[in-house]
Amino acid sequence: MASSRAILALCLLATVLCPALSRPRPLPNLPVNGPRNLANGLSYDFHADSCPDLVDIVWPIVESAVLGEIAIAAGLLRIFFHDCFPQGCDASVLLTGANSELDLPPNLTLQTRALQLIEDVRVKVHAACGATVSCADILTLATRDAVFVAGQSEVFYFYEMPLGRFDSLAPANSADVFALPRSDANASVLLDSFKTRNLEPIDLVALSGAHTVGKASCGNFNNRFSEDSDFARKLAANCSSDVNRLQDLDVTTPIVFDNKYFSNLLEGKGVFTSDQVLASDGRTQWAVQGLAQNKWWFYSQFRDSLIKLSQFQPNGNVGEIRSKSCFTTNGQSSLLEEGFAASA
Ligand code: HEM
Repeated sequence: MASSRAILALCLLATVLCPALSRPRPLPNLPVNGPRNLANGLSYDFHADSCPDLVDIVWPIVESAVLGEIAIAAGLLRIFFHDCFPQGCDASVLLTGANSELDLPPNLTLQTRALQLIEDVRVKVHAACGATVSCADILTLATRDAVFVAGQSEVFYFYEMPLGRFDSLAPANSADVFALPRSDANASVLLDSFKTRNLEPIDLVALSGAHTVGKASCGNFNNRFSEDSDFARKLAANCSSDVNRLQDLDVTTPIVFDNKYFSNLLEGKGVFTSDQVLASDGRTQWAVQGLAQNKWWFYSQFRDSLIKLSQFQPNGNVGEIRSKSCFTTNGQSSLLEEGFAASA
């Protein structure tokens, strides 16, 4: 009896001290505002019958991972971008094995913990619903949730994402992976590469706002060290004292998903060339200024641009639901199993 009272007291204490433990998933407020005209096969309620508790399974896992380590939010966002940009959001970036995208230079520093989190969520979702939800949809939902948690106490739009993607049967080809823009790109290169993905200047600027969280290694901005500015000299000095140093991409509020990234750019404190040029080029400067001034615009524009990116489907919406692991196609999994069986 005494011990059950102690357990009850502990539970109550934990609930008071860690509101997250009892925090329900925020209710979406988007369906009214989100685009109705969705890409092939996608809808907001795609899993309503086949996996009605989907969002309630994904949310607590992502929430607790991001509250435990804010870096996970940055990791998921970057994985989502690197999945969607080459050949659409089809979880192709997650595949391991021959010709894996993960082995190509643009993806070498994708966060392992965030990659594993997607697979951990898949295991839980498939345990509850069977193999009805793709890894691509799970990554989409996990990214949306991670951004929400990283927005901390801000009142932030929680929105529905279009769902119903298939997982790819193969990795994207390397040319498409190398289409991911480099951090020393100028504005024309950035605008052109986003345009090939149906993304407009406002989408480029808003989505670059993902650099409000996360870190970069010195090799990705050492092209700036010769610039004549206090900020560039500081970046260079920090890197020369420790070449393995990871630099916050948002130098004022690095662990909060907010619009300070844009005010930094207006003060010349963007870490990558690809960040800083957005504030000086006439085609994007207006957007940097507006998003710096109005955080509500940033939140709603980021949502709209993320939804747009999530619908890029240059090859249509074809593939499978990966049922054994997000890291292997079902064909690969069977081959591996046959291999194991044969060698057992
Ligand atoms: C516009 C062109 C972009 C360029 C040139 C670019 C480039 C980069 C580079 C070089 C890094 C650092 C990698 C490292 O040092 O390990 C990085 C980090 C990151 N990028 Fe981008 N990026 C761009 C757009 C985006 C977009 C659209 C998103 C998401 C919507 C995004 C999300 C992130 C995040 C969150 C990080 C930090 C990752 C972490 O801390 O693990 N980036 N980006």
